[in-house]
Amino acid sequence: MCGIIGIVGSKPVAGRLIDGLKRLEYRGYDSAGIAVIEETDGLSSLVRRRAKGKIVNLEERVKLEPVDGVLGIAHTRWATHGAVTETNAHPHFAGRVGIVHNGIIENFTELREALKETRTFNTQTDTEVVAHMIDEAMRAGMSGQEAFSHTLKQLRGAFAIGVVIDGVEGQMFTARKGPPLAIGIGDGENYIGSDAIALSTLSKKIIYLEEGDWAVLTADGVQVYDADDNPIEREITHITGSMAAAEKGNYRHFMLKEIYEQPETTAHTLTHYIDAFNHKVKTEDELGLKGLDFNRVERVSLIACGTAAYAAYVAKYWFEQLASLPCDVDVASEFRYRKPALSGNTLAIAVSQSGETADTLAALRYCKQNGLQTGVLVNVLSSTMAREADYAMPINAGPEIGVASTKAFTSQLTALLSLAITAGAQRGFIDAEAEKSLVESLTHIPRHINETLKLDGAIEELAQKLSTAKSAFYLGRGVHYPLALEGALKLKEISYIHAEGYAAGELKHGPIALIEEGTPVIVIAPSDELFEKTISNLQEVATRGANVILITDAKGAKYAKDMAPHIITCPDVSDITAPIIYAITIQLLAYHTAVHLGTDVDQPRNLAKSVTVE
Ligand code: F6R
Repeated sequence: MCGIIGIVGSKPVAGRLIDGLKRLEYRGYDSAGIAVIEETDGLSSLVRRRAKGKIVNLEERVKLEPVDGVLGIAHTRWATHGAVTETNAHPHFAGRVGIVHNGIIENFTELREALKETRTFNTQTDTEVVAHMIDEAMRAGMSGQEAFSHTLKQLRGAFAIGVVIDGVEGQMFTARKGPPLAIGIGDGENYIGSDAIALSTLSKKIIYLEEGDWAVLTADGVQVYDADDNPIEREITHITGSMAAAEKGNYRHFMLKEIYEQPETTAHTLTHYIDAFNHKVKTEDELGLKGLDFNRVERVSLIACGTAAYAAYVAKYWFEQLASLPCDVDVASEFRYRKPALSGNTLAIAVSQSGETADTLAALRYCKQNGLQTGVLVNVLSSTMAREADYAMPINAGPEIGVASTKAFTSQLTALLSLAITAGAQRGFIDAEAEKSLVESLTHIPRHINETLKLDGAIEELAQKLSTAKSAFYLGRGVHYPLALEGALKLKEISYIHAEGYAAGELKHGPIALIEEGTPVIVIAPSDELFEKTISNLQEVATRGANVILITDAKGAKYAKDMAPHIITCPDVSDITAPIIYAITIQLLAYHTAVHLGTDVDQPRNLAKSVTVE
């Protein structure tokens, strides 16, 4: 999703703005640009450079035609309104106003219509309209600050904005409604960024704007206003922890680094949710979820998008089996518009790595407005969802930079399994002995992931074969069915090979017609109580010519050795944690297939890391 960075100070900003954009690359984008207010011979002017494609293109452009000043804004654009062209790239200018914007102005066509007599529009973007509105208000006699706040009142939609105005030197304006906006406090300089990562080398003191807030920044200070224009103090968060997590280290891609981090990241997750010393899961109170009592909860409603939704689907099995707690899973974009029947004792939990995904956030707000208790299982604790939900449940996976989610997925699963055990124990469905054994299984997760990572070489070889396929199927039963969905998603999003995940028993109700000689079918089947049934489905596709890759354990491999030409043998793990461990194999398979095909693994085409539009 688009990224913003801005600096108001007393030293040249262009190089640092471009560095900031590089730290935002992980969000996904298709063009980039920078604008500064230049002073020449006592005269100021607003100048910009923009380029389609990667930030190196912008860098080249700035090298050829340098710009610099002490006040500037920059942006990476992920196209929504208007094609991917240099003209549509931000910053946009209108008169004296330069603007960068994330999100969508929903009423931009009517606003544009209202200005069309007096203004000429150079782009098809919603953003340019806002610049014209500010400029128009200044022409009518307002100051820059008045024009900015006056314009904000007319905008409908979700946006984060940064504005500089020629002739209003030394001031930068910013606002947030929907997408996050962070303000960094510096020494003789201040900054705006679409997240703290963008500002990580500039400032460790961050103010997160609340919904509807706007602010005026100068080199010496920051004044925040609420939606009603009242000056307001917002808390300064001191960012701790190493932003080294946002570096690739020796790994070829962030995605590979993040796959390899999973022994550690799942351990971090566990540290929060279990008391390993006493072989117990933490109670709601110990987890800081004061007021939550799983005994009073009648239904859990999990709401998420993409990979996070697949983690939620796995958790449905856990909540129902371990805690006898009915559990619905909804894809967030469908949830609120289907006007779900909500019952009072439902606990709604949004699952979101970023905590900013627009659909999930809207669903969370819908639940809150309708009186449900709400929680969010989240990686970014400073995110909007974490701040708005009644209960924030961290996964502690550290910054996830690769667009394809990996370590967040296994940490989501680990946290959800722990919570399902907490619920089961509180509700009397898990006694002390069962709890001890389940917690022991949880504590083995990091080690089992480590062992599974040793399959990397063998999986890489299989990936070479998979990379020639036009299309592939993933099959699984029970908790491994959502894992099949996730396997297919990982493969298609980074290798661009068409892939479908299916419940193993469902294939014969239609999709089996697509199986022909050599079609790759990845079957996820540890030797659990559903193993034989899944193996029957494996045979159904094998006899029709499928090229089967079976992901199982040693016992399963022995049983099926003559049925599948390729077998990935995972370590022996408990049935309950198997989806977390088996997730590593599907991540590696997708990763190596994509590397073999030479795609942009960390920033796959058309995708964005944090989807802050509906
Ligand atoms: C896929 C992927 C996406 C996200 C989805 C939700 O690899 O990363 O499907 O899972 O966009 O994002 P969050 O979890 O940030 O709400």
